[in-house]
Amino acid sequence: MPATQKITLHNPLDMHLHLRDEEMLHNIAQSSAKSFSGAIVMPNLVPPVTTKEAVIAYRSRIKEAIDDEAFTPYMTLFFKPDYSRAFLEEVRDEITAIKLYPAGITTNSEGGVSGFDVEELRETLEAMADLNIPLCVHGETNGFVMDREAEFVPIYEKLAKAFPKLKIIMEHITTKESVAALDRYENLYATITVHHLFITLDDVAGGMLQPHLFCKPIAKRPEDREALLRVALEAHPKVMFGSDSAPHPKHAKENCGCAAGVFTAPVALQLLTELFEKHNAPIENLQAFVSTNAQKIYGITPLQKSVTLIKEPFVVPAEYNGVVPMFAGEEIAYSIEEVNVG
Ligand code: NCD
Ligand code: ZN
Repeated sequence: MPATQKITLHNPLDMHLHLRDEEMLHNIAQSSAKSFSGAIVMPNLVPPVTTKEAVIAYRSRIKEAIDDEAFTPYMTLFFKPDYSRAFLEEVRDEITAIKLYPAGITTNSEGGVSGFDVEELRETLEAMADLNIPLCVHGETNGFVMDREAEFVPIYEKLAKAFPKLKIIMEHITTKESVAALDRYENLYATITVHHLFITLDDVAGGMLQPHLFCKPIAKRPEDREALLRVALEAHPKVMFGSDSAPHPKHAKENCGCAAGVFTAPVALQLLTELFEKHNAPIENLQAFVSTNAQKIYGITPLQKSVTLIKEPFVVPAEYNGVVPMFAGEEIAYSIEEVNVG
């Protein structure tokens, strides 16, 4: 990308987003709805979204919270190994994907999967493959925190081999092992967050502890970040932007027992633009990473929205309605100049 400029991104998509519910939903939904065409909305509410009625009701609460903003919430169900083919057929038109959490691995995932027995999962996963419903996976074991994602790669491989027609999205990957797995199986894809492209564990815990950078999976080593950067900057066709923007109230982060999640929605596009410029990556690659790759992988056609970013410093607000964003109070290089719908 040339050094001084404006750039326009078309139809940006956030392929992994936590919009929450009730007051938090109302407080933060606009941060995504203003600058993105749409987002894959995670189902880890309390209780999780597991029925057709819950999907429909949650979508209408989101629509109400975003007012008239042009923004598509792509809905997901919280994976249960007992979803029948008949149930999936019935819910198919209401959802874009199903999200699988290993039990207890992250915020509100207690009702997730324990053990990954292929035969136990077969009916549900084969039905999903036949109905072309992608499976989004939070890929971490309950092992040592730095090894959890790498330890999960064999589980991804087992699922990819057993269900070759199922699209499996490795969510928010943070390791070189996950990057390497992408090219070994045709049906493995990945999302990458903006924070994992910027930070390593050093930024979280190398000096004073930074609760607003603490998330699951935890940021890893410099060589892991390098591997993520490589596939993001080259816009590897199996990689998509998914912010995993996961707001928690300030008191839940600045607390003894800090909740996991980084709130990036309001600064994600600005930071990605800065990053691609810094690494001299072509703007076409940024466009592919934030939209076109996802359109091809998911087969979706987003609402038309263009976001123009200008190289003018933006001081990240200290809070957005009680939620502290990544890089709060710091100056970042790009600002959003305008957003056009249609
Ligand atoms: C997410 C949340 O708060 O819902 N937290 C996080 O650290 N990323 C859940 C998740 O995606 O793991
Ligand atoms: Zn998430």
